Amino acid sequence: MSKYTPKTILVTGGAGFIGSNFVRFALKKDPDLKIVVLDLLTYAGNEENLDEIKNNKRFTFVKGDIRDSGIVNSAMKNCDAVVHFAAESHVDRSILAAQDFISTNIYGTYVLLQAALKENVQRFINISTDEVYGSIAEGEADENFLLKPSSPYSASKAGQDQMAHAHHVTFNAPIITTRSTNNFGPYQYPEKMIPLFVTRALENKPLPVYGDGLQVRDWTLVEENCEAIFHVLLYGEIGEIYNIGSGNQLTNLELTRKILQMLGKPETLVTYVEDRKGHDRRYSVSCEKIKKLGWTAKRPFHDALAETISWYQTHRQWWEKIIQKQKSYQEFISAYYKTRV
Ligand code: NAD
Ligand code: TYD
Repeated sequence: MSKYTPKTILVTGGAGFIGSNFVRFALKKDPDLKIVVLDLLTYAGNEENLDEIKNNKRFTFVKGDIRDSGIVNSAMKNCDAVVHFAAESHVDRSILAAQDFISTNIYGTYVLLQAALKENVQRFINISTDEVYGSIAEGEADENFLLKPSSPYSASKAGQDQMAHAHHVTFNAPIITTRSTNNFGPYQYPEKMIPLFVTRALENKPLPVYGDGLQVRDWTLVEENCEAIFHVLLYGEIGEIYNIGSGNQLTNLELTRKILQMLGKPETLVTYVEDRKGHDRRYSVSCEKIKKLGWTAKRPFHDALAETISWYQTHRQWWEKIIQKQKSYQEFISAYYKTRV
């Protein structure tokens, strides 16, 4: 297994949830590494997510759009690797309106891929999702599984993956794709299930469980995903795809009950609301390939969830500010799901 040693990485979407965790992780992991973050600071981007490292001399922040080739070309100058997290990432929003999903996730990725060829970048890590495989009734999807995305979000991610693959085949671009399962951990925007439910439970507000709550997700701690992505950057084979998961499969209802138990809150907070349109019933991926590459998830789910819940308890200011700002979205989505409070 040959090793690649990145010197300067362009991290797109580095002010978002996984991106900001990755930047902290990578700067700590390699004391010689430099990182340039390119982020548009959409509703989901937050410079405060990078507060801990903002004075680090090995870190630079550029505010800009991955769809803007001028900004992309200049941010990528002198970078030998790209880790591409920037995306519109929330399924519910993609059901309401998908234009930004198509333009950022597909066209934005195309702009980055073209710039990577021009700048002769040595590694381009395309961050994708297990959602591109669609709902898996039984068994698990390996990396060769048919792509059958169900939501406008996952369809745009599948388009992104295909564009990245086409750039590898046609132009020999050094692409490696990762497809991880649902992440959770610090700094996740409180519209996704775990931070939404934890913050609402802390405020004794109802938890809106879509449909019957028996949908299954495999939950991966964000720090483990960052470790896996870093491992793939160093040791992954160009042109390959790696699933990343941890085998923590739970139904949404099981997970909701765990959260309530850990917080000492009553089960009466569970509120069944209208189901999400096109709601994928189950995600499940095989992680044999990345295991062979030398990475596997290690953290027990119970400890990781407890630590995450405690982070939201001790970082109230962080999420209260966001909830205040996104009030209009919350009102809109409550009307959409009718029973949401
Ligand atoms: P996020 O929504 O928290 O962050 C996305 C970031 O991208 C934000 O900082 C935002 O400002 C930035 N961004 C959006 N559009 C941009 C544009 N046009 N130009 C520049 N920056 C832009 O997302 P996340 O949860 O951190 O997800 C990161 C990546 O991981 C995404 O590609 C997502 O598809 C993928 N992924 C996420 C999960 C998960 O559970 N969160 C699981 C698997 C894969
Ligand atoms: P989410 O965090 O949006 O991730 P994804 O849709 O990408 O898997 O949702 C995780 C699961 O939780 C999904 O099955 C939808 C469900 N869910 C609810 O039941 N209620 C909610 O308010 C949200 C946001 C999600």
